[in-house]
Amino acid sequence: MKATVGILPPMEEAKTTRKVILSGMQPTNDLTIGQYCGALRNWVDLQHEYDSLFCVVDLHAITVRQEPAKLRRRTLDVAAMYIAAGIDPAVSTLFVQSHVPEHTQLSWILTCLTGFGECSRMTQFKDKSAMHADNVNVGLFTYPILMAADILIYNADLVPVGEDQRQHLELTRNLAERFNFHYSPTFTVPEPFIPKVGAKIMSLQEPEKKMSKSDPNERATIFMVDTDDAIRSKVKRAVTDSGTDIVYDEKRAGVANLMTLYSITTGKTTAEIEKEFSGLGYAEFKEAVGEAIVAFLGPVRQRYTELRADEDALRATLRQGAEAARERARKVLRKVYKKTGFVEF
Ligand code: TYM
Repeated sequence: MKATVGILPPMEEAKTTRKVILSGMQPTNDLTIGQYCGALRNWVDLQHEYDSLFCVVDLHAITVRQEPAKLRRRTLDVAAMYIAAGIDPAVSTLFVQSHVPEHTQLSWILTCLTGFGECSRMTQFKDKSAMHADNVNVGLFTYPILMAADILIYNADLVPVGEDQRQHLELTRNLAERFNFHYSPTFTVPEPFIPKVGAKIMSLQEPEKKMSKSDPNERATIFMVDTDDAIRSKVKRAVTDSGTDIVYDEKRAGVANLMTLYSITTGKTTAEIEKEFSGLGYAEFKEAVGEAIVAFLGPVRQRYTELRADEDALRATLRQGAEAARERARKVLRKVYKKTGFVEF
């Protein structure tokens, strides 16, 4: 194995019996603390236990219009942030989706197994087409099929994601079962891994809405690269309610959301948090939440800046990751082509 940037050895050598996980994020903006809480932190925790693959899904990103130079930069930004947050490329296979063309090849076969109605029912498609009414392209419609291909091409057992991806996972499972039924058992039917806490971090400005990287109101979202002052200010201005006490109640979405962020960044339980702030008000609580996020994200941002400064090393890591991923994807695709009835090349 090459020594510089570690990756898993090819499958034959590894003979791994560990279960496989795969997940990915779109490089459409800087990563948010919502994405960290819902997905990335679980990738970091699970990577030692599972045979892990993580990709930056640049193909998915172009379902919404992207500026090429920005997309290129952000793809590398996201990869660097994965590593800064704790993904170890010596342990996990880290790659860019477009570097492994087998994803799109499998996607076509799955597209021919997907009903028009199935894609029309996807709530993310409905939301995104409303948001980008001037560009309701077919890629936006077939987006979840490509996502299914990302997962099935590695026979992933588990897919760590936030709550908003549940429906896409359901479609993935259906497509795996359908292929297995029509041809013969081929794909693992994957399970979603959605955390109990943090699966849906809410907007700081409209706490009944999901925190989103594309929210036009910057104050609504904490980005992983936000400065300490920006974080403090966003938390201080977070919308809460007219209550006074710090207790966890889902109906009080603003306070509940801040409690979740505090819990994830400090490791404290809800009961511990309620006790800590008993008799104190929102001002003290928000200050503590802001400081906890600052203390948590500071070292991540520092590592990110260092990693991002060495673009050659980052690209080398991604190249090795893509080579390892392709080796695996190629084998599965070959099998799928054969079962589908394509003449061997
Ligand atoms: P994306 O890029 O929108 O988000 C990446 C991950 O972050 C989670 N997430 C959140 N979790 C909690 N609270 C939030 N406010 C929040 N916002 C985002 C998402 O649930 C997701 O897990 N379709 C996927 C990308 C994808 C993918 C895949 C994922 C493409 N192929 C294969 C898993 C497996 C997406 O758009 O994620």
